[in-house]
This record gives sequence, structure tokens and C-alpha cells, in this order.
Amino acid sequence: MSNNTSVNSRWSSNFAYILAATGAAVGLGNIWKFPYIMGENGGGAFVLVYLLCILFIGIPVMMAEVYIGKQGRSTPANAVAKVAQQNGRSKNWAFIGAMGVLAGFLVLSFYIVIAGWAVAYVFKSVAGDVTAAGGDAQQIGELFSALTSDPKQLLAWSTLVIVGTVVVLANGVTKGLERVVRWLMPALFVLLVVIMLYAAVTGDFAAAVSFMFSPDFSKLTINGVLMALGHAFFTLSLSSGIMMIYGAYLPEGTSIARTSIYIAIADTVVALMAGLAIYPIVFANGIEPSAGPGLLFVSLPIAFGTMPLGGIVSTMFFTMVVVAAFTSALALLESSAAYLVERRGLRRNVAAIVAGSGVWLLSLGTIGSFAGWDFAQINAGAMGHNFFEILDYLTANILLPLGGLFITIFVGWVIQADSLKHHMGLDSKTFQMFSKSVKFISPIAIAVVFLNAIGWLSI
Ligand code: PFF
Ligand code: NA
Repeated sequence: MSNNTSVNSRWSSNFAYILAATGAAVGLGNIWKFPYIMGENGGGAFVLVYLLCILFIGIPVMMAEVYIGKQGRSTPANAVAKVAQQNGRSKNWAFIGAMGVLAGFLVLSFYIVIAGWAVAYVFKSVAGDVTAAGGDAQQIGELFSALTSDPKQLLAWSTLVIVGTVVVLANGVTKGLERVVRWLMPALFVLLVVIMLYAAVTGDFAAAVSFMFSPDFSKLTINGVLMALGHAFFTLSLSSGIMMIYGAYLPEGTSIARTSIYIAIADTVVALMAGLAIYPIVFANGIEPSAGPGLLFVSLPIAFGTMPLGGIVSTMFFTMVVVAAFTSALALLESSAAYLVERRGLRRNVAAIVAGSGVWLLSLGTIGSFAGWDFAQINAGAMGHNFFEILDYLTANILLPLGGLFITIFVGWVIQADSLKHHMGLDSKTFQMFSKSVKFISPIAIAVVFLNAIGWLSI
């Protein structure tokens, strides 16, 4: 294997790695998507299934991906190929890595549009538009639909996001990003605590807690279970090449198991806190939990409109959303850009521009979905009714779980257990648990949920 397919950079410390990986994980998935899909799927039962998926599938899959990256020391497709060859297997397993890169690319195309909404809300907060409504739910709803139905605004904001992402990546991620994230991630956390406390005091906290934590399984459909599973992958940035790339930069001696658990806990805590910040306000103001993608952009501004210093808090909050989204967008583009560098031999800055342009072009489909353009309205039944919904469904509910299925099969059945145990540096008990998950629990659970949901199998 030639040297030019290897990556030589390493994270400066375990902490730097945890921070970067947490930055990739914590994003719109936690603050925007988790609260609204939980609402669409009836609350508690969905949350419970989601937590089980994180614990029994998400964490082991993350460990597997980081292991592949670290062992292969290259970008995803080559990393998988190298690990396969080290174990005397075909390098065609590389398709797992390639599939992840494709999924990441597709995700990013709608991710930048939603991140663009958050950018718009920073400016609207500064201008006082968010608080001018004085907490009036109707007026705030109109502010949101005025934004999402205006293709010019959508295009401007999402273009800004992708250009920013390309500029940072073209110059390399580590130094600037690491330093920024070191401050912004704790700030995001503090702000979420403040808003959660505010929601607890002024909103209907009890209703929110019971909605999120008392499971009513009659409200959960098989499609809901698939969404919980898919979201566990989405929120942890799995099956998208990211954890493999970040694993390739891992210093020797870092515990893959321990760091994976930290990252998963941080991500889960942020998601639950976002739910506990949003739902008390939702219930106190008679907003529908099933309000969909607009939930975050409607419910929180209601609180900001009535709270002291609401304009400032609103500005800070949406800035944090932008930052959380931006660190994830960087990770997503990194996946495609690194692929172009390695596979197509492009220079890094050219690769970032090419990948970014592709993402931008595809984002027009999502923009058209919200702005009501004809070409973007496609009826695909349960998968959705426009380009955005279908893309979201296709990635989160199909490509990511399928990627997870292949990764667990690869790690659980294709490569040799001895070498795996040795290289992962796990003690026997942890390895036992890990091994049970990747050999049996994860592949079986994913296959059963998946086949059921797409209706090939019925039990
Ligand atoms: N984990 C991110 C979130 O929860 O917002 C989304 C994401 C980022 C998915 C990076 C995939 C990825 F590679
Ligand atoms: Na996340």
C-alpha cells in the first residue's frame, strides 16, 4: 500500500479529539431535529427506543468506525480496504466507506439550508424582529413562514453557510476550528442550561417531562422505531465516514471505548436538554408537538419575546445553533473533500470547492421544497412529499442504518476477533459486550427494524 493514502496528522490530545468529535456530533440533529421528530412520534416511547439505540447500537458502531479509521490510517474507503486486507479479506469492502461519504454529502445538502435558517434568526434577533412579536405565537409563526417560503432568503443564507464551510476547510480544519470549538461548546451548554431553566420556570415543565419520559407505546409505529434508530446514527455522525476520518487522527493509547462513551453521553445530554428547553414552551403556548421542522424556530422565539433581555438571549441562542451546525457541516464536507483528495488526487482547496459546489447545487432541491417550487414537490408516500423530506428519509432512515449494518457485519464477522481485541485495547469484559453488539444485537436489530419498516417482512 503506497504512502500517499495514509494520513499522518494526529489530534494534539485526547481532549482535542473528544472536542472535535463532539463538535461533529452535536448539531442540528440535537437542537432542531430531535425535538421535532420526538414530537411527531408521540414522545416518551420514541425517546426510550432512541436511548436504547444509542446505548446498544450507536456506541458500538462508533467504536467500530473509530477502530477502522485508526487501524487503516486513511480516509474511509481506503481505511476499510486496508483493514480488510490486514485480515486477509477482499478490499471490495471499501464500498462501506464510499457509501458513508455519499450519505454525508446528501445530508450536508439539506443541513446547510436549515443552518441557514439559524443564521437568518441571528440577524432577525439582532434587528429585533424576533422579540418585536412580543411572544405572540401567530406573529412568530408568520415570521418563520415568511423566511422559509422566500427562495431568495433561503438561497442567500445557505450559500453563506456553504461558502464559510469551504473557506475553513480549504485552509485546513484543525488549528482554527479546534480553538473556536473549545470555547463555543461549553458556551452552548451553559446557554442551553439557562434556557432550560427559563422554560422550566415559565413554561409547563411537568407536561414536558411527562411527554418525554412516560412512554406510551400505542403512539409508536414501526416507522417511528426506524426513525429512532436512524436518528441515533444521524446524531452521532455515524455511517458518514466522519468517525473513521477522526479515528485516523487518533493518537496511540487513546481509549476508543471510553472516548466513544463520552461523546455519546455529551450528544445525548444536549438532545435531552434541547427537548426540555423547547417542550415546556410548546405546551404552555398550545403549539402542536407535531409542528415539524419549524418547531425550534417557532417555540423558542415565543419565550424570547417575553423574557427580560430576550433579544440578547435570542441572538446568543441562535448563534450557538449556528456554531453547533457549522462544526458538524465542516465534518460533513471534510468527508467528501478528503475523499476527492485521496481518490481523485485533487488539491485540498480544490477538493473543498468542488465538493462544496456539488452540495450547493443539490441544496436547491431542499430550498425548492420549502419555497414550493414544482420540481421539488414529489409524492413518495411514507418517505415524504418533497425533495427535502425524501432526502432526509433516504439518508437518516435508509443509508445510515444500512451503513451501520454493513459496518457491524464487517467488524463482527469479516475481520478476525483476536486482532480486533488486541488492536482495540479492550479488557475482556468490554470486548465481550462490544462483540455481542456488533455480531448479534446491532445487525439483527437493524435488519429487523429496517425490513419491517420498508414492508418486506412482517412479524
Ligand atoms: N451529528 C450531526 C447532528 O446531530 O446534527 C449531523 C451529522 C454531522 C451527521 C456529521 C453526519 C455527519 F457526518
Ligand atoms: Na448530534
